[in-house]
Amino acid sequence: MVTPTSAQRFDGRTVVVTGAGSGIGRATAERLLAEGATVVAGDVNQERLDELAAAAATERLVVRAGDITDQAHIDELVALAGDELFGLVNNAGIMDGFVPTGEIPDDLWERVFAVNVTAPMKLIRAALPAMLESGDGRIVNVTSEAGTRAGASGTAYSASKHAAVGLTKSTAFFYGPRGIRCNAVAPGRVKTNIRDTAAPRSPWAWDRVQPVIAPVLEPAADPAELAAVICWLLSDDSSNINGVNLFSDAGWSTM
Ligand SMILES: NC(=O)c1ccc[n+]([C@@H]2O[C@H](COP(=O)([O-])OP(=O)(O)OC[C@H]3O[C@@H](n4cnc5c(N)ncnc54)[C@H](O)[C@@H]3O)[C@@H](O)[C@H]2O)c1
Repeated sequence: MVTPTSAQRFDGRTVVVTGAGSGIGRATAERLLAEGATVVAGDVNQERLDELAAAAATERLVVRAGDITDQAHIDELVALAGDELFGLVNNAGIMDGFVPTGEIPDDLWERVFAVNVTAPMKLIRAALPAMLESGDGRIVNVTSEAGTRAGASGTAYSASKHAAVGLTKSTAFFYGPRGIRCNAVAPGRVKTNIRDTAAPRSPWAWDRVQPVIAPVLEPAADPAELAAVICWLLSDDSSNINGVNLFSDAGWSTM
C-alpha cells in the first residue's frame, strides 16, 4: 500500500527520469506528475515512452527517446529541463544474465558498466551546473541489493551497483555543502521488465545463485512502492538525508 500523492509536493520543480518507459522509472515519472512536477522522461524504448505520454496526458511531461550511453542524449535531457532542473533520477539499468567473473564477455562487462555506472555519472555531471546555480538539487540513483552483496546477480551487475553506491556517496560528500543531496534506493525484487536482461546465461552460476535469491523472489514489490521512496528522497521531507543507500526490499538486506 502506497500513501496518497500530494498535489503540491513538486509544484514548479523539474525532474529528469531515465528508464521512464517501464517499471520503477515509469512509476516514478507518474508519481512525480501526480505531485505537480514537470518531468523530462528518457528511455531507449520509444514505444514505452509513447505509452507513458498517452496515459499521462499532460503538458508537464516531456518524453525523449535515446540511449543514456550517448552523450548527446544526456545533454538533450538536461537541456530540456533547462535552468529549472531540480531533480535527477538515475533509474535506467540492465542486468547481466547472472554471469560469473570467469565467463564475462568483454562486451557484457562494458555495456553493464556503461549503462549502470558511466551514464549516471555523466548525467550527474551534466545536471550539476543548473543545480549548483540554484543551490538546490536532488539526485536519486537506483541501485540494488547487488550493490552491497554478492549472490543477487552476476559479477558485472554486482560490481556496477557497488560502483553506483560509491558514486552516490562521493557525490553527496562533495556537493552536500553546496545544496545538492544525492541518495540511492536499493530495490529488492520488483515486478518490472528487467527480466529482459536477466535470463541466466551460465547454468552452474545460476545453480549457485538460485538458493540465495529463491527466498526473496516472491512476493515481488510493486514499482509504485519504489516510486514512493524515490519521491520521498527527492522531496523536502528527507532534507537531512544525504549519501544513503536506502534499501526498499521488504527486509532482504537483513538476510
Ligand atoms: N526489478 C527489480 O527487481 C530490480 C531490483 C533491483 C534493482 N533494480 C534496478 O531498478 C532500475 C529500474 O529497473 P526496472 O526493474 O524498472 O527495469 P525495466 O526493465 O522495467 O525498466 C528499465 C527501463 O530502462 C530502459 N533502459 C535500459 N537501458 C537503457 C539505456 N541504455 N538508455 C535509456 N534507457 C534504457 C529500458 O528500456 C526500460 O524501459 C534499474 O537500475 C535496475 O537495475 C531493479
